[in-house]
Amino acid sequence: MWKNLLLFLLMLLALIVLSCQDKSVKKAGTMIEKAIYGKLPDGREVFQYTLKNAAGVEVRIINYGAIVTTLKVPDRNGKLADIVLGYDSLAGYLGDNAYLGAIVGRYGNRIGKGKFKIDEQEYQVTVNDGANHLHGGKVGFNKVLWDAQVESSTTEPALALTYVSLDGEEGYPGTVTLTVTYTLTNENELRIDYEGTTDKPTILNPTHHSYFNLTGNPEETILNHELTIDAAKFTPVDAGLIPTGELADVASTPFDFNESEKIGLRINAQNEQLQFGRGYDHNWVLNSYDRTVHKVVTLYEPLSGRLMEVFTDQPGMQFYSGNFLNGTIRGKNGELYQHRTGLCLEAQCFPDSPNKPNFPSVILRPGQIYHQRTIYKFSIK
Ligand code: GLA
Repeated sequence: MWKNLLLFLLMLLALIVLSCQDKSVKKAGTMIEKAIYGKLPDGREVFQYTLKNAAGVEVRIINYGAIVTTLKVPDRNGKLADIVLGYDSLAGYLGDNAYLGAIVGRYGNRIGKGKFKIDEQEYQVTVNDGANHLHGGKVGFNKVLWDAQVESSTTEPALALTYVSLDGEEGYPGTVTLTVTYTLTNENELRIDYEGTTDKPTILNPTHHSYFNLTGNPEETILNHELTIDAAKFTPVDAGLIPTGELADVASTPFDFNESEKIGLRINAQNEQLQFGRGYDHNWVLNSYDRTVHKVVTLYEPLSGRLMEVFTDQPGMQFYSGNFLNGTIRGKNGELYQHRTGLCLEAQCFPDSPNKPNFPSVILRPGQIYHQRTIYKFSIK
């Protein structure tokens, strides 16, 4: 009788421990919570993970598209606000074509005509942006379900998401396994670590596509944000936003952000490159590229006092000023996202690198490991 009672109590205890582990992992003021977010049309469940640090900064991530749905950071009065664009529910993300908050890949950005060669073998990937390939094709990494694993070995909340992209997917060669780990650090950084492998020579150039609006109010444009980019050159593009191959000086052009400058100051200047981009939608060639992580961008919003610094080990940074937003996307709280109400800072290799011998290589071979670390750090000024 006592034995049975003891057994019953032990089983009860085990059940409680197990269910706690599933829903939340709590460590010294930090926390991860897991909740069902919705179901895909094929019935698979999508989960949302909420990561919080001791300072109260909060990031929400879903395992569909490895998407950051919410990022709450304080202003100079300590008031938290969500500073990324997104949707109210899974349905929004399923229908999304602006890549809100997602990990894009295999190839972030454009490949001219979707064609490239590796070792003399020609490949054709999906053409989904006029005549070109964009952000992984029709069903890119932003449109698939990732396996999620709460990382328990760290004192900071971390979520590892893994996707296995099969040989031939969207025309890309080789089966690629990519793990993206989001860590919310105690220094108020959202750190993104990428690790990828392949079983055949392929190309890999994933990036993160959050639309930031540091006001915390998506009714405001991003034009008063002040930006610096540590880059002496950028890669000019043609009318289809494919780089010409030239590395052009930013000096004396609207592309010079070496000194902090309001984004809106020169965005409508008479400039062919700005016309092609409909604003800023270009890749900056980051200075002192040596594969180590260093600070490359600062973004400051004077009214809230919010400051975002971007660190990366990548050679390029696509700054996209939300030019395609035109009031047709119904985002969070039913808000219609208007022109230039969010901006992306996408750490990456240069666009169309597979076709530009003078750009850093994006080829990944069996036995090699693709690495990227990019950090978005939040503070006030
Ligand atoms: C990237 C591209 C833009 C646009 C957006 C998504 O940032 O550079 O041209 O395609 O993604 O709308």
